[in-house]
Amino acid sequence: MTIKAVRKAIFPVAGLGTRFLPATKAMPKEMLTVVDKPLIQYAVEEALEAGIEQIIFVTGRNKTAIEDHFDIAYELEDTLRVRGKSLAAIEGIRMQPGSPVYIRQQEPLGLGHAVWCAREVVGDEPFAVILPDELMVGGFMRQMVEAYTSVGGNFIGALEVSPEETGKYGIISPGADDGRLVEVKALVEKPKGTAPSNLMIPGRYILQPEVMQILDAHETGAGGEIQLTDAMAQLIGRQPFHGFRFEGERYDCGDKAGYIQANLALALGREDVGPQVRRFAETLLHGTFD
Ligand code: G1P
Repeated sequence: MTIKAVRKAIFPVAGLGTRFLPATKAMPKEMLTVVDKPLIQYAVEEALEAGIEQIIFVTGRNKTAIEDHFDIAYELEDTLRVRGKSLAAIEGIRMQPGSPVYIRQQEPLGLGHAVWCAREVVGDEPFAVILPDELMVGGFMRQMVEAYTSVGGNFIGALEVSPEETGKYGIISPGADDGRLVEVKALVEKPKGTAPSNLMIPGRYILQPEVMQILDAHETGAGGEIQLTDAMAQLIGRQPFHGFRFEGERYDCGDKAGYIQANLALALGREDVGPQVRRFAETLLHGTFD
């Protein structure tokens, strides 16, 4: 089997973000910032760093801020130039002309449906899927593409969570495990009751195009939604399927506490604001302010 390169990545960004209301009433949840960068930009940078060339956003109404964010902001650039200010903060996000593609999901029918909406753009190639509310520091997609390049097949991220959390995620039923790659024997989306393990799928995937044919059936699963996890589960046994553990940090920014933790951790790691935030956090935790 020839191993085709992963050139395209799907970003499902049509979700309403109800967990973050009122912040997300008029603003896409993917535009929430961690320190000074929106979540979607971290996710796109992760893909570009992994060598992915085409960025496919599956979007919806109220999401035009995402399109604008990845476009050239002519007036802003001009004003910065006239004022002699640096453009560094906005130059990094410029994508190759023709790289970003925007598709509307039209109806909120689930993650599987969002991915399926991109089927014509994906064509007959393997593709990545990145869920931007899972913020990864350390190059998750780059590490996974590297592992995929020598093995091929389907890859999904694998990450240990506490047993109480398994009902919130797609969960892997693991087989052979070498600490980095885990054999995927079965998958279950948001298990009720006992989960097969505490290895969850943290929103990073490299999938073969055949999964689109399974998604054609529009079968619904957990929560009455068309689940990507269920479609992937049907590929197991027909194609190789690997869980992949990455080396780095993960922040669940789909959750308020996780989002605040991401802000704190990334701020502490920054040269510009880090020392001040550290002093403040220490004072806050240990009592008196000076
Ligand atoms: C989605 C997936 C789930 C995955 C999770 C990661 O769930 O369906 O398998 O584990 O993302 O955050 P959602 O959070 O959209 O309900």
